[in-house]
Amino acid sequence: MPDIESLLKEKRLFKPAREFTRAAHWNKKTVAEYRKLGQKNPTRFWEKMAREHVSWFAPWKKTLQWKPPFAKWFVGGKLNVSYNCLDRHLEGENAWRRNKAAIIWEGEPGDSRTLTYGELHREVCKFANVLKGLGVKKGDRVCLYMPMVPELAIAMLACTRIGAPHSIVFGGFSAEALRDRINDADAKVVITADGGYRRGQPFALKPAVDEACKGTPCVEHMVVVQRTGQDTAMDASRDHWWHDLMSEASADCKPARLDAEHPLFILYTSGTTGKPKGILHTTGGYLTHVTATAKAIFDLKDSDTYWCTADIGWITGHSYVVYGILANGATSFMYEGVPTHPGPDRFWDIIERWKISIFYTAPTAIRTFIRLGDEHPKKHDLSSLRLLGTVGEPINPEAWIWYHNVIGGKKCPIVDTWWQTETGGIMITPLPGAVDTTPGSATLAFPGVQAEILSEEGDVVAPPNGGFLAVTHPWPGMLRGIWGDPARFKEVYWSKWKNLYFPGDGAHKDKGGYFWIMGRVDDVMNISGHRIGTMEVESAIVSHPDVAESAVVGRPDELTGTAIVAFVTPRGGVDAGSQLAEKVRKQVTKEIGAIAKPKDIRFTNALPKTRSGKIMRRLLRDIAAGKEAAGDTSTLEDFSVLASLREADEN
Ligand code: WTA
Repeated sequence: MPDIESLLKEKRLFKPAREFTRAAHWNKKTVAEYRKLGQKNPTRFWEKMAREHVSWFAPWKKTLQWKPPFAKWFVGGKLNVSYNCLDRHLEGENAWRRNKAAIIWEGEPGDSRTLTYGELHREVCKFANVLKGLGVKKGDRVCLYMPMVPELAIAMLACTRIGAPHSIVFGGFSAEALRDRINDADAKVVITADGGYRRGQPFALKPAVDEACKGTPCVEHMVVVQRTGQDTAMDASRDHWWHDLMSEASADCKPARLDAEHPLFILYTSGTTGKPKGILHTTGGYLTHVTATAKAIFDLKDSDTYWCTADIGWITGHSYVVYGILANGATSFMYEGVPTHPGPDRFWDIIERWKISIFYTAPTAIRTFIRLGDEHPKKHDLSSLRLLGTVGEPINPEAWIWYHNVIGGKKCPIVDTWWQTETGGIMITPLPGAVDTTPGSATLAFPGVQAEILSEEGDVVAPPNGGFLAVTHPWPGMLRGIWGDPARFKEVYWSKWKNLYFPGDGAHKDKGGYFWIMGRVDDVMNISGHRIGTMEVESAIVSHPDVAESAVVGRPDELTGTAIVAFVTPRGGVDAGSQLAEKVRKQVTKEIGAIAKPKDIRFTNALPKTRSGKIMRRLLRDIAAGKEAAGDTSTLEDFSVLASLREADEN
C-alpha cells in the first residue's frame, strides 16, 4: 500500500470548538460512556439506541440473533418506518412539528416547494392508498426511477407505510440497467416522471422506462409524475399520471405494523462480477442505525436546515436525505440539479439563501469546486454553516483543508464518514463535539461498531501497517443478504475470514488508533464516489459487435478520484480509432449509463494474460497510471504485449 507513506505525514489535528462541544447532543463525556458500553457490549449499546431513537408498536424479544452470516436485530419487535418519520412528529409533545418544514426542495430552474411534516404525512398517506389501489400488497416490490423531486421521498415513505419494499434505481442508469433491476427484484409497479431538469435543460425519463418495460413481464402498472410537462406517451392499459391518482386518493392510511426484520428496501450496487447485487435492508435495525447516527454525527437539532447533496438513488440519499433525517424530525433540504447551473456558485447561493446549517457532500464535488475557483464561494455569505461532512471516497488532505477554510470559515467541524451501501449507515466517523480530526482520516469507529485492520489470514495488523478493513461484530444496519442470492452473499462478504464482514476496502490505523481508508481492494472502481464494477463495464463494451475483447481498470484521477480506462481489442477487420472509441462509449452509456463511460480508451491487439488465460489487471493498472509495470511478470504469456500496450494511443 504505497499511499500509506504520504498519508502518515499528515499530522495536523483540529479540535472541536468549545462552543460546538458545549451544545452538542453527544459531548466528550457521552461519547466516552458510549464507547465503553459499545466496546464491552455492542448489542446493549444498540438496544439503548433503538429504545431512545425509534418508536415501536411492540417491543422486541431478542436484541440480536446471530447465526453467521445471518443476523436478525430486535427480533419480534413491531414498527413502521413512515410512522417514525412522520406520524410521531405530529403527536404528543412533538405535535408542534406539524407545521415545521420536513422537506425544502429547490428545482434546478429555481422553483421551490416546502412540505411541512403535516403536509408530507398527508401526501404519503394518499400515495400509500394509491399503491394499494394498484394492487400493491405487503411484501410486493415497487421500483422507483425518478429525478430528485419531493415525490420520490413521498413514494419511498408510502412504500414503507404499507410494507412494500422499494428498489430505487438512480435516474442516470440506462433502460437496459433499469430492466435488469426491475426483473431481478420482480417489481410489480414502477414509479417515474416525465423527466427532470439538468444543466438548464429538461431531460426525459419515461421513454427509458417504456424501453425497459418491453422486457419486464412482472410490471403491471406505471405511475408518472409530471415534472417538466414535456410530451409523454402514455399506455392507457398500464400508465397513470401521479396527479390523477392522487386527486382521488384518501388521506387516511394506517401505518402497517411490520416485523423488525420485514424487508424495507433493495438497492443495487456494483460488485466484482457483471451482475449488480441487490443489497437487502430490513426495518428495525436499519432505522435504529440511521436515526442514531444522523442525530449524533450531524448533531441534528430542530433549528437546523440540513442539506445532503447526494441523489436519493444512492444509499447516502436513502439514509441521510430521507430516513435518518426525517426520523429525527429535522428539516431536509433537497436540490434537483447540477452544482454549476446557472453558474458555478449555485451551491453557495443555495446555502446563503436557505441558511443551510449542515452540509454533507462528496470529495469529488469539493475537488471540482476547488478547480472552479475560490471567488464563487467567497461571493456568498456562508456563515449559517456550522457542520460539514464528506462521504463516498477518501478525501485528500488538501481538499479537506480547503473545505475547512473556504467553506467552513475555519469554524465548522468536518465529519469524514466511512460506510457503504451494505452497512446501511455510517460506521467510521468523527463525532463532531468530541473527536479531534486529522485531514484524510475518518478517525474512529462509531460506538457499537467494531472494526479492525486484518491481514489476509485474519490476524490483526499492527499500526501503522496496511491491511484489509474488517467489521468484527454484527451491527443493526447491516445488509441482510443479496436479493435472491444467498450463496453470493456468503461468498462476497463472509468467505475471506470466519464470521467477520469484509467490506472490500484497504485501510490502516495510525499509532493514535485512527482509521485511514485507502480505497477498494477488489475489482470495483470508485468513480466520483460511485461504485462501478470493472466487469460490468467490460461486459457492456464487449456487447458491441465491433469489439472482440476488453479489459477495464481504474487509474488515479485528480477530479473523480478514479477514472475508467478501457483496453479494447477490435474484431478483425474493424479499424481502431476515435470513431470506434465513440461507439464504445455510446455502448457503455446504453448498457449502464453515462456514469460508467470510460475516460480513456486504448486499442490493442492483445491483452496481457497468464498462460491459463486470466487477464493480468495488475499490469494494466500500472500501464493505465503511466507507471512501469512493476512486480512479478513471470506468469505473463506474451511479453511483447506489454510494450505494445505502452505505445497504444489514448482515445
Ligand atoms: C468508499 C457510499 C474513504 C469505500 C456511502 C466504500 C469511502 C465505498 C468513504 C462504498 C470515506 C465511502 N472514506 N472511502 N469516508 N465513504 N467510501 O456503497 O471504498 O456507494 O467501500 O456507499 O465508498 O460506496 P457506496
